[in-house]
Amino acid sequence: MRRTLMRRTPCVALCAAVLCALFPLLAAHAQQIKEQPPNSPTWAFPLITEMNIPEGPEPQTLPGSSRSYTFAQIYDLLNPPDWFPDRHPASPEIILKGHGRAQACASCHLINGLGRPEMGGLTGLPAGYIVQQLADFKSGARIDAGGRMNNVAQDLSSQEATQAADWFASLESRAFTRVVETGSVPESFVGPRGGTRFAKPGGGMEPIGARIITLPEDAERVRRRDPFAGYVAHVPVGSLAAGRTLVETGGAGKTTACGACHGPGMRGLGNVPGLAGQHPIYTARQLYLFKDGRRNGPTAAMMKAAVERLTDEDIVAISGYLGSLTP
Ligand code: HEC
Ligand code: HEC
Repeated sequence: MRRTLMRRTPCVALCAAVLCALFPLLAAHAQQIKEQPPNSPTWAFPLITEMNIPEGPEPQTLPGSSRSYTFAQIYDLLNPPDWFPDRHPASPEIILKGHGRAQACASCHLINGLGRPEMGGLTGLPAGYIVQQLADFKSGARIDAGGRMNNVAQDLSSQEATQAADWFASLESRAFTRVVETGSVPESFVGPRGGTRFAKPGGGMEPIGARIITLPEDAERVRRRDPFAGYVAHVPVGSLAAGRTLVETGGAGKTTACGACHGPGMRGLGNVPGLAGQHPIYTARQLYLFKDGRRNGPTAAMMKAAVERLTDEDIVAISGYLGSLTP
């Protein structure tokens, strides 16, 4: 029966064979581009826009800046705004001007490297660590569930990678997310343009559950990519104490104490990155990615034992606690 079909319709059979051969590749590609690990929570992976926000054509301004940009300019990933040119050192070109898939770093990590919560902060990370991560994104050893860094890394030259790494490593770290324990949070939605979460206009409150809900301190400034407009990360009551126990002691064998590798105050040690003051949803996402194996660069094996037995509640607690530490 099958043979007859193949003989009579060689074209159909050929197409089917080609599709079958391609399917695993296509599936792998899709997974690489926009899929979070199974059993990971969507709050840690804000990949899908839940509600749009109108963007008028009028020029926008920010208090304290003499510049103005339209939303189209603000969201130009190859040429993002530089609102306060006097408030940062001269940057390598790739920070503010992208090319091809190597989009300008400042459009997502902000010009001062403090980063949007869904991207992560880069200030003060060891330069050698940054270079290695860029290489891992390029090779696919580290998968960004949204695919953005895997794209960026493809067209980044090794010189640009080194320059960006040295520059971000030299920038001053400071608290950018305020971590607050609470039982309830404003109803919110994942907005357009990269996955920032905003409070619903006219929305009420809802129980926080076992989630971390990060919202802008000032939504309008965040929409304009003000690099000084910070965030508040809401975490469930009890997270900070529980997180501290896990981080400092390993929680009676549940995980390994983090400081041995991540250094005093979790501020980093050698090429091991600092964790203090990092956006909690970024940290949580990384713990899920290590657990799942999508983060699998040469030194990721050192994280295996630390994440293996963590529950969702542990990840919330650890990430909230680390975010509350002074960077
Ligand atoms: C379109 C948005 C976007 C742009 C542009 C972008 N990044 Fe990223 N970057 C991200 C996201 C999203 C993540 C988090 C990925 C994840 O969740 O694993 C990230 C993570 C990183 C990390 C990992 C940080 C860590 O602590 O391990 C490094 C390093 C990095 N980016 C460097 C850069 C550099 C250098 C540039 C400019 C050449 C750049 N990025 C441009 C979105 C972007
Ligand atoms: C044996 C050493 C070791 C221990 C113990 C350890 N880590 Fe790590 N951690 C690393 C290394 C090395 C990396 C960089 C991995 C890579 O290259 O992808 C890392 C990376 C991370 C990252 C990603 C940071 C970023 O900027 O993307 C997080 C989050 C993290 N560790 C959290 C923890 C927590 C929480 C603990 C304790 C519960 C812990 N680690 C214990 C060695 C360790």
